[in-house]
Amino acid sequence: MKHIADGTILNNGIVMPRFGLGTYKAEGEEVAKAVTTALELGYRSIDTAAVYGNENEVGSSIAASGVPRDSLFVTTKVWNTDQGYDETLKAFDVSCKKMGLDIIDLYLIHWPGVDKYKDTWRALERLYAEGRTRAIGVSNFQIHHLEELLKDSEIVPAVNQVELHPRFIQRELHEYCASRGIQIEAWAPLMKGRLQDNERLQGIAAKYGKTVSQVVLRWGLQNEIVIIPKSVTASRIKENSEIFDFELSAEELAAISGLDAGERVGSHPDKVLF
Ligand SMILES: NC(=O)c1ccc[n+]([C@@H]2O[C@H](COP(=O)([O-])OP(=O)(O)OC[C@H]3O[C@@H](n4cnc5c(N)ncnc54)[C@H](OP(=O)(O)O)[C@@H]3O)[C@@H](O)[C@H]2O)c1
Repeated sequence: MKHIADGTILNNGIVMPRFGLGTYKAEGEEVAKAVTTALELGYRSIDTAAVYGNENEVGSSIAASGVPRDSLFVTTKVWNTDQGYDETLKAFDVSCKKMGLDIIDLYLIHWPGVDKYKDTWRALERLYAEGRTRAIGVSNFQIHHLEELLKDSEIVPAVNQVELHPRFIQRELHEYCASRGIQIEAWAPLMKGRLQDNERLQGIAAKYGKTVSQVVLRWGLQNEIVIIPKSVTASRIKENSEIFDFELSAEELAAISGLDAGERVGSHPDKVLF
């Protein structure tokens, strides 16, 4: 990992940048500016979702950036209340329209929910077959959801986007996905900014002249995880991208993974039942 746009090859052969900008809880002018700043700094992957209510602004900033479309990787997600075959096809059209895009690079099922994700997945398989999305995947799927999905699906998800950071390393799920060619992507890779006071991370950061956030993100990259840290603060958007000029040792990686405490900051997927 030497460059901000370096990618991982997904199970269908397309390349997804290993690093991108998250946009959850960022709306209006704030998110528009954040996306513009990120693209100027060389970010080439943007993560949004229908439920974030910012697809219009994300799309406008992309269009205004002048970055060639084929250099960008845009992810969005079908929201829980739009699950189901027909509903998902409609939701996809709405997302494309809001962003002003014909093709979405990665379309994800946002949460498994209860009993519709197989129908939703069939819709994603159709969108993929029609060339409207370059890859399809899931988010917040536990092993049992994936096992169930894989029983009937034609396409193995390219990505599973889940909560993952040093306090919640998801070792079992990560290994399961890796063994089946499903790329793990971390949401809340910074644990939403809650790791700043950790002395172990501060010690490693001091050694490299880096910040705690930079060390945590570098740990993600070196563990083959796709990371999408969110910030609407220009200085932090820059800080988070300056992680391609140092390398953590095997001992440091292990020490950071040793912070795992099974501690979530978001919802448990088995409890998001709508
Ligand atoms: N699939 C899902 O269910 C799901 C769920 C949650 C998130 N996501 C995606 O994953 C992305 C990332 O997750 P997240 O936004 O929840 O959490 P995150 O990226 O771990 O943390 C974002 C928080 O950390 C702060 N921050 C950013 N850079 C920082 C730095 N260098 N130093 C200190 N604080 C910093 C941000 O503040 P400022 O913005 O104020 O700078 C914001 O409050 C989301 O934006 C979204 O795109 C997906």
